[in-house]
Amino acid sequence: TGCFTYDAGFTATASCKSAITYIDGDAGVLLYRGYPIEQLAEKSSFLEVAYLLMNGELPTTGEFEKFEHEVTHHTMMHEAFKSFLGGFRHDAHPMAMLTGMLGSLASFYHNDLDLEDPEQRRMTAIRLIAKVPTIAAACYRHSIGWPIRYPRNNLEYTTRFLHMLKEVPSEPLELSPVAAKAMDLLFILHADHEQNASTSTVRLVGSTGANPYVSVAAGVAALWGPAHGGANEAVLKMLAEIGRPENVKSAIDKAKDKESGFRLMGFGHRVYKNYDPRAALVRKMTHEVLGQLGVSDPLLDVAMKLEEAALQDEYFVQRKLYPNVDFYSGIIYKALGIPVEMFTVMFAIARTAGWVSHWLEQQEDPENKIGRPRQIYTGSANRDYVGIDKR
Ligand code: CMC
Repeated sequence: TGCFTYDAGFTATASCKSAITYIDGDAGVLLYRGYPIEQLAEKSSFLEVAYLLMNGELPTTGEFEKFEHEVTHHTMMHEAFKSFLGGFRHDAHPMAMLTGMLGSLASFYHNDLDLEDPEQRRMTAIRLIAKVPTIAAACYRHSIGWPIRYPRNNLEYTTRFLHMLKEVPSEPLELSPVAAKAMDLLFILHADHEQNASTSTVRLVGSTGANPYVSVAAGVAALWGPAHGGANEAVLKMLAEIGRPENVKSAIDKAKDKESGFRLMGFGHRVYKNYDPRAALVRKMTHEVLGQLGVSDPLLDVAMKLEEAALQDEYFVQRKLYPNVDFYSGIIYKALGIPVEMFTVMFAIARTAGWVSHWLEQQEDPENKIGRPRQIYTGSANRDYVGIDKR
């Protein structure tokens, strides 16, 4: 009982007011601070988008230089982090390591952290944007037994990350310009998406006044699930399992069969009931990357056939299920030599910009209250305790 509105999965509940990101799911529109995602994808860079999300306006040259300098200045990790990392088994999933390592950041930034001070809040956001790529790359290198690479601060954000991830001491990394461009695009597209599950988690934890580093660690945990950011890893595994365009029809039939428990990964979205505008941009970039790197990936043929077949199938048409941002992103990451277990970590690096922007907005919001949903109670009525010998 209770006079609450029952809204399982929050399909019709606005949990906050926000001025950061706008989505019109029926029209397939996505705006960051009013700017269409298509324009940002073509003209901006990830770091500029991070500034925009955090501050509400595009930076001037001076503002951007200051921001880039601050982010660059905070890329290093305390050396004690190496001992945390060393405690993980070599086969630990990088998302598990990232969650743990981010949580441990709270132990470095807690006692002196004054959340009432706007400058300290801003520096927290900058530290997170700066350090997450360093931690992510370290987690991956630990998993393959390579020595950690320190951030090369003469490089820009995306390129610096790729160096930390992939560079071997004896061989300078040859990066094709299309690799950095594609990575930056994927980071821009993943940077924010209003009140998705991980951002809502960051806000819920943040609403209690908890340490911001653990709030973001909680966001990483929420992102890991295959219904959310874990989908990009799941898509690639699914495409590899389907293997050949000839097998697409049976995969579609299986996805339509509710008994099978199988869904087309990278398809459908809670908000988009039209083509996900991010998916269209990733799809185009996939062709550009494979073309310029001279890679031919049979999984792209499987993906294109799957998309074509699903978009003509009544089941998917009726339910308005279109490819989402993660349908093609894994094919790009694979072409760039990024291992499949790292795909969701890549999403986490980008979404950190969104998480910290929402955390900042929430901390500044005079209407912020602890997030405390109610429930519809379905258990027993009041009853008397019975001693164990009488049960
Ligand atoms: N394959 C087959 N059927 C599907 C799929 C799918 N991928 N997605 C939804 N459906 C069906 C679902 O069975 C239901 O059918 P019916 O009305 O007959 O019961 C109907 O479509 C509505 O689905 P829902 O589960 O009620 O929708 P939702 O808004 O709760 O879920 C979703 C959205 C994204 C979790 C879901 O579409 C899904 O599981 N997709 C696959 C996972 C995926 O790609 N996730 C990444 C999302 S985008 C990246 C991000 O921002 O995280």
